[in-house]
Amino acid sequence: MKIYKNHVSVLLKEVIKNLKIKKNGIYIDCTFGLGGHSKNILKKIKKNGFLYSFDKDPNTLKFSKKIENKNFHFINDSFENLLKYTKKFNITKKVNGILLDLGISKNQIYDKKRGFSFTLDGPLDMRINQNIGISAEEWINKSSEKDICKILKKFGEERFSKNIAKSIIKHRRKKKIKRTLELSKIINNVISNKNRKKNPSTRSFQAIRIYINKELKSIKKILKDSLKILAPNGRLLVISFNSLEDKIIKKFMKENSMNLNIPIKLPITNKEVKKLNYNKQLKILKKIKPKKKEIKKNPSSRSAILRVAILKKK
Ligand SMILES: C[S@@+](CC[C@H](N)C(=O)[O-])C[C@H]1O[C@@H](n2cnc3c(N)ncnc32)[C@H](O)[C@@H]1O
Repeated sequence: MKIYKNHVSVLLKEVIKNLKIKKNGIYIDCTFGLGGHSKNILKKIKKNGFLYSFDKDPNTLKFSKKIENKNFHFINDSFENLLKYTKKFNITKKVNGILLDLGISKNQIYDKKRGFSFTLDGPLDMRINQNIGISAEEWINKSSEKDICKILKKFGEERFSKNIAKSIIKHRRKKKIKRTLELSKIINNVISNKNRKKNPSTRSFQAIRIYINKELKSIKKILKDSLKILAPNGRLLVISFNSLEDKIIKKFMKENSMNLNIPIKLPITNKEVKKLNYNKQLKILKKIKPKKKEIKKNPSSRSAILRVAILKKK
């Protein structure tokens, strides 16, 4: 497998600044990737500090092995299982910062064999961990038109989901869809390319990847678990790359936020009183987007949004 040479971690400076790393603190990077964020966190950690990094892609194991640091431990598993590990390592409620840099890396996208790219020809796989679950090929060749339409709409917000699903079924009757470019051609024949900034396959490929890897379900789980894992004043940093992810993060932070939304009018209704739940734990700190300079250097950072919150003592 080729390693994508120009790997740049998104919002790196902002992540390091906002994690407010204590040299003896405990940190968790839930999405190790090529280790860009992890390596920079480790630079700030000393003696009793520790970084646990997770990635569920077995291919990331070799990148983690390049890091020789006694204050570092890599776990080749999904961050959905984080709570199991914090219990095992006895660090539940002791973690000073959790980082999530969602989605997949360019290294995964540009590896043809993984099937994530609609511009490179490869087997239609799209699994982050190819040892688990069903591939995109299996799914697209066995699902009903109604289900394909539903997934493209739900996880890709694809306006043409109905026509794309119809065309997929039509092609499937003649021949199984096995390659990324086969699927991309079917989609591009349905959607006109005129006046489009994005490749017409962008939304459908995103939808299938999110569905195959159960990405949104995993995000909801880790966000909930982070409240059980962080120490008082521990920080939660999440970088999202699409509106579906960001909506979940924003909603979660708001619902668990102690920032009071006091209605302007009095008296207030029972429903409004319930919303003023004083047991809420998070304080929302910031929403950060990449600066123009970063977007110019790394165009794929343009859709990134970093949200920062801090867990307060009850
Ligand atoms: C955008 S990349 C992270 C890049 C990394 N921050 C860096 O600086 O190199 C996202 C990574 O998250 C991993 N990933 C996605 N879902 C995951 C999950 N549920 N559990 C663990 N890792 C996951 C992907 O395999 C990918 O390597």
